[in-house]
Amino acid sequence: MPVRILAIESSCDETAAAVCVDGCIVSNIVAGQKVHEQYGGVVPELASRAHMQHIVPVVDAAIKKAGVRMAEINAVGYTQSPGLIGSLLVGGQFAKSLALSQKIPLIAVHHMQAHVLANLIDSPKPSFPFLCLTVSGGHTQLIQCDSPLTMKVLGETIDDAAGEAFDKSAKLLGLPYPGGPLIDHYAQAGDGKRFNFPKPQIAGLDFSFSGLKTAILYFLQQAGKSVSYKQGQQISKIEQDKFIADNLSDICASIQQRIISILLDKLEKAVHQTGIRSVCLAGGVSANRGLRKEFLTLAQQKGWKASIPLFEYSTDNAGMIAITAYYKYLDNQRSDLTLSSSARANW
Ligand code: KG4
Ligand code: ZN
Repeated sequence: MPVRILAIESSCDETAAAVCVDGCIVSNIVAGQKVHEQYGGVVPELASRAHMQHIVPVVDAAIKKAGVRMAEINAVGYTQSPGLIGSLLVGGQFAKSLALSQKIPLIAVHHMQAHVLANLIDSPKPSFPFLCLTVSGGHTQLIQCDSPLTMKVLGETIDDAAGEAFDKSAKLLGLPYPGGPLIDHYAQAGDGKRFNFPKPQIAGLDFSFSGLKTAILYFLQQAGKSVSYKQGQQISKIEQDKFIADNLSDICASIQQRIISILLDKLEKAVHQTGIRSVCLAGGVSANRGLRKEFLTLAQQKGWKASIPLFEYSTDNAGMIAITAYYKYLDNQRSDLTLSSSARANW
């Protein structure tokens, strides 16, 4: 009998559902939330309300597209943590109700573990052990993955995440939220070497991005005139806007270039330290075209085996929750149905 898992993801501002049959994702539906654009970031209460609106049609669409009946589903997987608590509760309670009504197991999934396992959705799958550079809006981590359910964090950000660095830089440039994809877009036509933003000196495998954000702020306030990035004489808002408009592609390409070099330098260090030469990318920022390209180029130069999830499994999606729930199901991992365990902001 095939194992059919329905999975729900609602940790932030995407309502998503997917069906996995014997480890293959057969449907993957995502409904985004445009409502946050005007606020420059995700508004938690609006996110929860939008999840309430989207969850029934999204789950219904995932089931229909998969061509299965609810009665044929063997287990319900859902994102338990980390994320916005109100958003997590909508998906968690919905998943729990489905599991109760269908009398099937409930499987809680860690969102960041699922980002890593998105690499196991398509073939060729990376061989174990592998290193995964997981870069999202809330996290930046270097993970050593020894088996689907055995992983450890080798390094992580001590302040902002890589996605936050993209989004906050974009905000300084007057771009709407989420700015990461827009920086990626403008960077296509830009010169990444034109502006040299500073690189943080952080020991070990941890990351830091808050200094970069401050450097960009001062840089824009001085229309790129200062090379020291110290706060000095500021130009007018009109001059600043003109400087940004005239140089947008080069500024975006230079910011993107610096974020990529911070990430890939640490990955190289991790390969050196662990001796593991199978490497993966994961998380929303892995949709960045510059990062994907440089990651693959570096891997080719070094002779590493490299893998990146398809775009649809890089940003938040339920396919990655379904594949993780599938491995947990095979490992007999089930969650209880108590209210307290249905959602956790941190894990
Ligand atoms: O993994 P994800 O979808 O959600 C979280 O778990 O946080 O990641 C969202 C982050 C946002 O910061 C977004 O700006 C960034 O991924 N992102 C990108 C691109 N696409 C999404 N950043 C740079 N370039 C992109 N193409
Ligand atoms: Zn995510």
